[in-house]
Amino acid sequence: MLSSESIDSLLEWGRAARRDLPWRRTRDPWLVLVSEVMLQQTQVDRVVDRYLRFTERWPAPRDLAAEDLATVLREWQGLGYPRRARNLHLAAVQMVARFEGAVPHRYDDLLTLPGIGPYTARAVRVFAYEQHEAVLDTNVGRLLARWNGSSLAAEEAQRAADALVPSSRSWEWGQTLFDFASAVCAKRHPACVECVLADVCPSSELAGTQRDPAVNSAAVSRRQSPFAGSHREARGVVLHVVGARSISARDVAEVAAAELGSDETRVNTALESLVADGLIELVDGQVRLPASRR
Ligand code: ADE
Repeated sequence: MLSSESIDSLLEWGRAARRDLPWRRTRDPWLVLVSEVMLQQTQVDRVVDRYLRFTERWPAPRDLAAEDLATVLREWQGLGYPRRARNLHLAAVQMVARFEGAVPHRYDDLLTLPGIGPYTARAVRVFAYEQHEAVLDTNVGRLLARWNGSSLAAEEAQRAADALVPSSRSWEWGQTLFDFASAVCAKRHPACVECVLADVCPSSELAGTQRDPAVNSAAVSRRQSPFAGSHREARGVVLHVVGARSISARDVAEVAAAELGSDETRVNTALESLVADGLIELVDGQVRLPASRR
């Protein structure tokens, strides 16, 4: 799919243009894991400060495992998708119980931990343990489809990604691809005119158009539905209202509905789903963040 000259050109591009990000200055598996969980659904610019704060507060799995979930959820406020915080907390507890407080390096062990799927497991293996494999996220999925000239099925995409990894350079390659994909081979407005691969890429005329091979290719995410009016928005507001205090369910419904400008039914649906996810507790009509360690 790509010649070794093209791979070298990309690595060269990366050495000049790759961003200096705090999680790129470490190979500590816990710090890498925290960064990857935050980056799963939140953009780099919004993650940097939160990552620094979080890892300073809980620099190892043992530190997080010893913390109340409510405190962790409060620290997570504003990052969104709070299930990630709950899962990270649960994963830390399991690392202490089953892996001597360390982040495991085996793929199968990583997959047994809450919140760690194939993407995050590979990210930890490559960005912390420098294993020889590829990290396939939506950006890399887009690159592969464009370099291939047609969309790929899931297994093809992972195989193609793994086949490209240059020997002893999996870390550098993975980080370079992330930045190249966001800065050059962008989803909607790719900068094909300044791309080091423009001469060999079969998609330089198609990228960003309706006939873009990346559309519907494996690992490439679909359009996100709007946040305003969503269930996710209502959950965020409810969690924020519950915040630091214990408050009656009736008050939560009223305050959150006012903030969302919607009816209480929507708030109650959000509230029920948060209880089901273990992100808030409802006891005798009072709502609070879960205090217990799990
Ligand atoms: N998104 C996911 N992982 C990342 C990383 N290591 N650097 C930049 N963006 C990312």
